[in-house]
Amino acid sequence: MSALNVLVVGGGAREHALAWKLRQGSGLGRLFCAPGNAGTTAVAEAVPIAANQVDALADWSAANDIGLVVVGPEEPLALGLADRLRARGIPVLGPGAAGARIESSKSWAKEIMRAAGVPTAAHATFSSAAEALEYVRHQCFPLVIKADGLAAGKGVVIARSAEEARRAIVAALEERVFGAAGQTIVIEEYLEGEEMSLLAFVSDRVVVPLLPARDHKAVGDGDTGPNTGGMGAIAPARAAGHDDAQTLCRALIEPVAAVLADRGLPYRGVLYAGLMLTPHGPRVLEFNCRFGDPEAQVILPLLEEDLVELALTTATGELAARPLRFAQAVCCGVVLASRGYPGPYPTGLPIHGLDLVDPDILVFHAGTRADGTTIRTAGGRVLTVVGRGSTPREARDRAYANAARIIFEGVYYRRDIGWREIQRAGE
Ligand code: AMP
Ligand code: GLY
Repeated sequence: MSALNVLVVGGGAREHALAWKLRQGSGLGRLFCAPGNAGTTAVAEAVPIAANQVDALADWSAANDIGLVVVGPEEPLALGLADRLRARGIPVLGPGAAGARIESSKSWAKEIMRAAGVPTAAHATFSSAAEALEYVRHQCFPLVIKADGLAAGKGVVIARSAEEARRAIVAALEERVFGAAGQTIVIEEYLEGEEMSLLAFVSDRVVVPLLPARDHKAVGDGDTGPNTGGMGAIAPARAAGHDDAQTLCRALIEPVAAVLADRGLPYRGVLYAGLMLTPHGPRVLEFNCRFGDPEAQVILPLLEEDLVELALTTATGELAARPLRFAQAVCCGVVLASRGYPGPYPTGLPIHGLDLVDPDILVFHAGTRADGTTIRTAGGRVLTVVGRGSTPREARDRAYANAARIIFEGVYYRRDIGWREIQRAGE
């Protein structure tokens, strides 16, 4: 087989981790990242096309003999990037727009879960504010109110009172703060328990799980403050008294893949189930049509497989049903963010100390750009610093010892990433 040219789409730390892992794959020709960041250029050639320019990306891929496209974010998938690539005969890790609806429409995802018999929070769907307000009059609190469409992680409100619920309903359905993404809302039962991210490669009906991970979404220590895209993650995540990844996958992801295939929407990509492990068993909070960020940054370094081959076989429908090999180790990833994130934040600040990290530490770039020899901040989440160890505490300590050496004005990060795993390990 001739060498395979691969394009990674996206410009965050997840895409840096994907490019880094693909770079180690066999049979790789040239590796590109569109648009990438100041870190991806160390492992992949930059292509100056934004991730949501789906026509331009498809044209560029066809013109540049790309044999595999790996899509990081949800937006290009929801916009039909994978459909455009498949129409040109280019294999792609990521579903078409129809399959991406599992993430881009929460009400459709609920419908698929119902058809697949996958347990999820009880819910109702509304597009009329009056009807939604009437419904919540008869409910107990807290209640969860979600914009149906893509809202960059900001479309979920946990309403603890009737007044909070009313404000969330009015904001979405009358003030249209989420635009079209909030024309419909899902109101659902509040579930208590531990969250876990379960990701799997899905190739039609074949489902192969990755290691479970735990993401810390809230901005503040102790899981307080507003939700973000993710402030750090640890893998593997373990939850006492719950099933292993293979069993969870069989119960929660395989039936969904089967329903999608039955409906003529075969799915080829990564399917990510956000779980709540409740005392009554696991429930799916949401599905995402892609790798998680920051989950990818802690899962991929533990994967002892050829990602080029895994991604290509998933994309072409040839994925073998077998357990994947992972290192017997733990990775902890700490996200270094700009002051103010997830609200407004400054950019353009010089980042110091990137050369001071230990050689075994992985620093995946997100919002960074090169300015001559200086690397500057260019986003809310700036870097993910990943430490590895034989225990959760060791991985965490390695990550934090190195994160402390990287400095930019106002650098902010949580100090407690991985706390549950450390507590559970009794360390
Ligand atoms: P989602 O985008 O649907 O995953 O929601 C974002 C976050 O809101 C989740 O990671 C949970 O922390 C929280 N959340 C969503 N749905 C529920 C629910 N039904 N009960 C409790 N928390 C939830
Ligand atoms: N870490 C959450 C997400 O990728 O959606």
